[in-house]
Amino acid sequence: MPVLRSIRERFERERPLDGLRIGMCLHVTAETANLARTLIAGGAQVALCAANPLDTQDDVAAALVASDGAAVHAIHGEDMATYYRHIEAVLDTRPQLTMDDGADLVSTLHASRAEALADVLGGTEETTSGIVRLRALETAGQLAFAVVAVNEARTKHLFDNRYGTGQSALDGILRATNVLLAGRVVVVFGFGWCGQGIALRAKGAGAQVVVCEVDPVRALEAKLEGYEVLPGVAAASKGDILITATGGRDVIRREHYEAMRDGAILCNAGHFDVECDLPALRELSRERLEVRPHVEQHVLADGRRINLLAEGRVVNLAAAEGNPAAVMDMSFANQALAAEHLAKAGGTLPAGVHGVPREIDDEVARLTLAALGVEIDALTDEQRAYLTAWEQGT
Ligand SMILES: NC(=O)c1ccc[n+]([C@@H]2O[C@H](COP(=O)([O-])OP(=O)(O)OC[C@H]3O[C@@H](n4cnc5c(N)ncnc54)[C@H](O)[C@@H]3O)[C@@H](O)[C@H]2O)c1
Repeated sequence: MPVLRSIRERFERERPLDGLRIGMCLHVTAETANLARTLIAGGAQVALCAANPLDTQDDVAAALVASDGAAVHAIHGEDMATYYRHIEAVLDTRPQLTMDDGADLVSTLHASRAEALADVLGGTEETTSGIVRLRALETAGQLAFAVVAVNEARTKHLFDNRYGTGQSALDGILRATNVLLAGRVVVVFGFGWCGQGIALRAKGAGAQVVVCEVDPVRALEAKLEGYEVLPGVAAASKGDILITATGGRDVIRREHYEAMRDGAILCNAGHFDVECDLPALRELSRERLEVRPHVEQHVLADGRRINLLAEGRVVNLAAAEGNPAAVMDMSFANQALAAEHLAKAGGTLPAGVHGVPREIDDEVARLTLAALGVEIDALTDEQRAYLTAWEQGT
């Protein structure tokens, strides 16, 4: 992660986060460990818990405690009570900055730890679903501090969501099932940043890709990209592999299960495990078998088998290793620079959801290009003048 490393080296010299308590609720992976190390190098005290009960790499959690002095509250496969107890443990450290992936830390803080809100200078949010929740909190007039929406940086969603999740969601499916993608019908629910990446990579692997959308513009985009676009139930009846990436709930539900083919593989790449209506699937199943690690086979009353991956949780993190380090480098560079931005602002930013400042976004792209050894041109003075003038036309 060369970009994060260069930020870490500067942070070691400049200590922009000196003495700051940071509460992190992020997937406990090697990439997150690098982010935590960068924040610690900047002078922060870090407490970390998981953003999902299945995402923790226990060796990484242990290493962060043993070698870096972070307080880590996370165990792979923890139950929901433990998951929330760990969030509370991070809040017990009275964070001055929050760093979330899905907004569980900030929502718990607002719902049950109001006394700790006064300590908080600001926060950052990693993912689309977290930003949806924060905007809802803001609209309700209850968001108590400024949160930088890291997902909205171009160097985040254009790369992490599209190329990172596009690749790693398929990696999770392949590790769990060893299925051949070529010649299969892959149905992608949601043609947003993640869905576009998944569709692109599945097409590249020789699959026939079908897209389901509710947004007419994105559905049109999928059609003009050459994908078949169908309503969900019609798509469910022809899909070999069905993947949700919408940020919504019950996207695949009873009517879809009833239409599915025998042997269908079902999984989710969206943040929360509500995209597939699992209670409905359990109701329809007469038997459930653990056929491979991360593959639960549901045998329906008529004998059809539906293979659910990773309990409907985010498949690239639960069944593989999450997004590759090369792409998390950009996302977490945004996180580190957003934390520095909030620390500098010292609580003066108004409460609400804020975009990532353009300079941070551009800086992350510049550093990434430099790490890749790619050089680009700059505008000439004449070009810059032309692009900012109104006088010249036809
Ligand atoms: N697995 C990962 O590594 C990873 C990485 C980034 C984001 N995410 C998560 O993935 C989800 C999607 O993120 P995104 O950035 O692609 O969001 P996005 O907003 O760009 O796209 C979501 C798309 O889903 C569509 N949609 C919503 N409800 C639908 C439904 N019922 N049927 C069909 N389409 C529907 C929307 O119209 C939209 O086009 C979010 O939960 C996000 O937090 C996961």
